[in-house]
Amino acid sequence: MSARIKTVPRHIAIIMDGNGRWAKLRGFSRIKGHEAGAQAVRECVEGCGELKVEYLTLYAFSAENWQRPKTEIIALMRLLEKFLKEKTPELLEKNVRLQAIGRLTDLPQSAQERLHTTIEQTAGNTGLTLILALSYGGRLEIIDGIKSLLRAIELGHIDKAMVDVEMFSKHLYTRYYPDPDLLIRTSGEMRLSNFLLWQTSYTELYITPKLWPDFTKEDLFAAVEEFGRRQRRYGAVE
Ligand code: FPP
Repeated sequence: MSARIKTVPRHIAIIMDGNGRWAKLRGFSRIKGHEAGAQAVRECVEGCGELKVEYLTLYAFSAENWQRPKTEIIALMRLLEKFLKEKTPELLEKNVRLQAIGRLTDLPQSAQERLHTTIEQTAGNTGLTLILALSYGGRLEIIDGIKSLLRAIELGHIDKAMVDVEMFSKHLYTRYYPDPDLLIRTSGEMRLSNFLLWQTSYTELYITPKLWPDFTKEDLFAAVEEFGRRQRRYGAVE
């Protein structure tokens, strides 16, 4: 770990972009890019563990990704299952707790089962919480949150006059986690792509031109180091 790191974010979120471009540059299929991307996930989880980051949220499959070619979707789902099956012993060894957010029931049955198995097996771990965003869309999450809030009002559990930012946050998929402090996006794109729209209001953004499969632990440490130099004012003055 870099000695220059003074402030460690509690929660890091990552848009892992550029797998396809990485593969294309090498004349490989897009699937090979995703496989290399899964290796980068492993390294990143390890780096977060070393830094003692509490939460790491990875944008692994967006609600919009269902529009990709069927072959790519199938390969991504297989890769997810393979990752969970092969990496569960490592997650247990490294004290990592797995969680997931998104419309998880959209996933193929076998992927859902694998996911829930790993979530259950790692539930008692007390180190890093690794949150996979799967079939996740920020706008969908807000819509689901509004529906859940309306239901609670209808049932008389809450009074609509009491609705505020904190209460609404408790109706989102992320209700158990703090907002991200740092959002990293690889491959140089300058957009949020429907990721954690509500939660990133005051998140520090770090965009790197590196493609996700090339993103190393050292790159993660560089992002965290840069985060330590930022002044977070949350709209107030110093
Ligand atoms: C974006 O790259 C990446 C994805 C849509 C999928 C992310 C998946 C992985 C990193 C691998 C699997 C992850 C786990 C947790 C097992 P892109 O395909 O949009 O790249 P491009 O913009 O260069 O085409």
